[in-house]
Amino acid sequence: MTEPEELIKAAREAAAASYSPYSKFRVGAVAVAEDGTRYAGANVENAAFGSTMCAEAVAIGNAIASGARKLHTVATACLDGDDCHPCGNCRQIMREFRVETVLVEGPGGEAVEHRLDELMPNSFGPESLES
Ligand code: THU
Repeated sequence: MTEPEELIKAAREAAAASYSPYSKFRVGAVAVAEDGTRYAGANVENAAFGSTMCAEAVAIGNAIASGARKLHTVATACLDGDDCHPCGNCRQIMREFRVETVLVEGPGGEAVEHRLDELMPNSFGPESLES
């Protein structure tokens, strides 16, 4: 298994812990830090829908709260649908921590690789605040 395939598999496993009673759309994600450490997350929904947290945000929050500051890859997978490209807000969260590669699961279960700067051109990030 290639590393991207392994990360998609780990994201699928993480989705098993999804708390998604409202959408019934289980998503899992794995954030990989600069040193290779992997941090998992799943979507956590809320009766106040706007308080829902996406799987990618949970995985990245887990990484950052564990001390990581630079992430190189985020892999995401959903168990109840085919399209699991990260939402705009999650792309922005990835941008903050300089994620380079975003892996999503393709239609045949393969790992499809995107670059964050391709998914998010002309993005706003920490350097944008430097004078
Ligand atoms: N969701 C994610 O976890 N990640 C995304 O990038 C898109 C959407 C979750 C949020 C919600 O629990 C469910 O999928 C339906 O939107």
